[in-house]
Amino acid sequence: MDSAKLELNGSTYELPVTVGSENEIGIDFTKFRSMTGAITFDPGYGNTGACESAITFIDGEKGILRYRGYPIEQLAAKSDFIETSYLVIYGELPTKEQYDSFKYKLTHHTLIHEDMKRLFENYPKGAHPMAVMSSMATSLSAFYPESNDPEVIELNIIRLIAKFKTLAAFAYKKAIGQPYIYPQNHLSYAADFLHMMFAVPSEKYEVSDILERALNLLLILHVDHEQNCSTSTVRMVGSSHANLFASIGAGVCALWGPLHGGANQAVLEMLEMIRADGSDYQKYMDMAKDKESGFRLMGFGHRVYKNFDPRAEILKTTVAEVLDMLGRSDPLLDIARNLERIALQDEYFVSRNLYPNVDFYSGILYRAMGIPVDMFTVMFALGRLPGWIAQWKEMRDDPKGRINRPRQIYVGANARDYVPVDAR
Ligand code: CMC
Repeated sequence: MDSAKLELNGSTYELPVTVGSENEIGIDFTKFRSMTGAITFDPGYGNTGACESAITFIDGEKGILRYRGYPIEQLAAKSDFIETSYLVIYGELPTKEQYDSFKYKLTHHTLIHEDMKRLFENYPKGAHPMAVMSSMATSLSAFYPESNDPEVIELNIIRLIAKFKTLAAFAYKKAIGQPYIYPQNHLSYAADFLHMMFAVPSEKYEVSDILERALNLLLILHVDHEQNCSTSTVRMVGSSHANLFASIGAGVCALWGPLHGGANQAVLEMLEMIRADGSDYQKYMDMAKDKESGFRLMGFGHRVYKNFDPRAEILKTTVAEVLDMLGRSDPLLDIARNLERIALQDEYFVSRNLYPNVDFYSGILYRAMGIPVDMFTVMFALGRLPGWIAQWKEMRDDPKGRINRPRQIYVGANARDYVPVDAR
C-alpha cells in the first residue's frame, strides 16, 4: 500500500502513505491543501500524526510502551533514571564509560546560580509549585543564554536535568519555610533529590534505599509518552526556535492541567474526598457517569490506552510492595482498589475502554514517600523532563522541521462594516 485515494468535489486525489517501523499507517496530507484547497479537520488531534519520531512506541490496544525499542517493564525492573534518560535522549543504552560520564556531568551541574534563589523569595505563601517550576525552567534561559552551537545546547541539556531537581526541592523548601538543602555529589540523582526535599541542616538524614528505588521507578515510568499534550507543547514552542528552557517551561504549564499530569494530584484529592464521605463508591460512580455533574473518575481513561496502561499495572504492584517494605498501610490504597474493581465491572467504563492510567496509583506511592500532594505534578515533570528534551532535540535536529502552525475552519461572522460606538 503506497497511496490512498480521496474524492472531493468530483475530483480524485492520490495521497502518499507512510508506514512506521511498527507498521502504523499514516496518510500523508502535507501537500493536501495545495492540491485541493481543503484542510484536514481533527479537533483534539486524535487522528493526526504531527511528526515522525524514533523515541517512544505505544500500542494502546495491546498496552505496549517502549522507549527506543526497550519494553517499559524491562527498563522499570533493570534500569535507573540516569540510564533511561540517556537512552531516550541519545537513542542507545550507554556503555559503562558513557553512563559514568553522563552521571558525572549531571552530578556536577546541580547547583543553581545563587541569584536564582532570590526568585523563590518573591512567590506568595501557598503558590502552587508548578507555577514556580514553570517560571524557574524558563528563567534558566536568563542565566544560561541559548545558542545554536551544538556544544552549548548539549551543556544546557545537562544543566536542565541536573538543576531541575534542585529547583523542585527548593520550591518545596520555600513553601514549607525550611532552609534550602544543597545538592550532595556523593548521592545518586534520586537519593540527592530526596535528601534535598527531606533533610534539615540540624539533623543527619539517611536516604532510605526503598524510597530511592521507588523514586527511580516512578521517574522511569514517566520519562516519555510520545506526542502527549505537554510534549506536543514543547515541540510546538520549540518549533519557533524558542530556546530549550523556554520550551520546557511551556511543557511544565501544559502538564499542570488535571486532564494531564495534574491528574495525580486530582486522584489523591478524589480518594480523600471519597474516604471523608464514608466510602460511598456508588455515589462517585454515578457522578462520574453523569455528564452534567462535571465529575470524572480521575486517573481513569486515556487517549491512547484502550486496554490497560502498562505503567499503572507496574505501579499497582509496586505501591503495595513499597507500603509493605515500609511497614505501613494506606486506607487510600484500599479505596483505589475498590474503585478500580467496581469501575472495571461497570458497563459505562467497560464499553468506553476506561482503565486506570499511570496517575491512578502514582499518588499513593508519592504519599508513602512523604511527598506532599501539590508536589505530585512536579514529580511527574521531573520524570518527563528527559522525554521532553529528547523530543525537543529530535525536532530541532530534523532537517524537514517547520514551524508548527495548524489551520482552522472559520465559523465566525462574515465580513461586516464597523459600527461607531454611539450607533451600536
Ligand atoms: N470518568 C468518566 N468518564 C470518562 C472518563 C473518566 N475519567 N474519561 C473519559 N470518560 C468518558 C467521556 O465522557 C466520553 O464519554 P462519551 O463517549 O459518552 O462522550 C468517553 O469516556 C471518551 O472520553 P474522551 O474525553 O473523549 O477521551 P479523551 O481521549 O479525549 O480523554 C482523558 C482522555 C485522559 C483526558 C480522559 O479519559 C480523562 O479526563 N480522564 C481523567 C483525567 C486523567 O486521569 N488524566 C490522566 C491521563 S494519563 C497521564 C498523562 O499522560 O497525562
